[in-house]
Amino acid sequence: MLIDYRTKLSPEQIRSLDSIKESLTAIEPTVKELLAQHRLNSKRWYSHDILPWGRGKDFSEVEWREEQNSLRPEVVVALETNLLTEDNLPYYHAQIERMIESGGVWQEWNRRWTSEEGAHAAALRDYLYLLRVMDPRQIEDNRRSVMEAGFDREFADPLEVFAYTAAQELATRVSHLRTGQKAEEPIVLQLLSNIARDENLHFVFYRAVVSALLEVNPEQMLPAIMKQLYSFEMPGAGMDNFEFRQTTIANAGIYGAREHRDMVIIPLLRYWEIDKMIVRAPPAQKAQERILRLEKVLDRVVEKQERG
Ligand SMILES: [Fe+2]
Ligand SMILES: [Fe+2]
Repeated sequence: MLIDYRTKLSPEQIRSLDSIKESLTAIEPTVKELLAQHRLNSKRWYSHDILPWGRGKDFSEVEWREEQNSLRPEVVVALETNLLTEDNLPYYHAQIERMIESGGVWQEWNRRWTSEEGAHAAALRDYLYLLRVMDPRQIEDNRRSVMEAGFDREFADPLEVFAYTAAQELATRVSHLRTGQKAEEPIVLQLLSNIARDENLHFVFYRAVVSALLEVNPEQMLPAIMKQLYSFEMPGAGMDNFEFRQTTIANAGIYGAREHRDMVIIPLLRYWEIDKMIVRAPPAQKAQERILRLEKVLDRVVEKQERG
């Protein structure tokens, strides 16, 4: 349910938000089921079961040096970028919390989700320190600057939030898992597989929320999907050297335009069966047409990226 911002809004915006509010209330029983399903499917894991603490050394006794790291440079860039993305959790939590009413199932989900996401940054950070993958000062300095920059993606309403998070959770899952696979190091693979499993369940939840909203309110959900998928970018555009990070991660075959098109956008659009939907309002029809053109648009992005 939406928080009321009526004082600042035009009558048309108020009508639009009222209609979204009704849709969110209408799908609450589904969300309750999805949350129950999520609790059943998610398996709690503990980073202390995975990380080899016996290999740890005090930094005051043995200083960090680059040669202590055995991972390839592109894997290190991916790991650090994934960590900084996870570090931004307070901003994601706040963004969702702003859009929902307290006390209901939406808040229950947001808190559960936050508790799971919080484990990701902690476990990744422990790994990077313990295995001496990076200079610990750099890890902390980068965290500080990313946190200070914050993450302020503009969402007009909760429909846009859910359209974005469905794609973002899937993208994060792909990115963690492929980083683990490219690392060729069993501990990091195990750690990132656990994180990716969480991200997958988050993705399944948000994807189903979007399906339910497409069912009750396709006229407003389609434009929200269109806007968010066309403007999609991973949270982190505020990081130092973000372009370099993105290029390195794409060139390593971890996450680039091809993975985004083939492993995120195409599966999502097929699942939602956007092509089979029948809508009457012209803005929704336009949004549907544009969404269906997205694959072609991404073909050009893939071609451009791979040409270099
Ligand atoms: Fe995460
Ligand atoms: Fe997640």
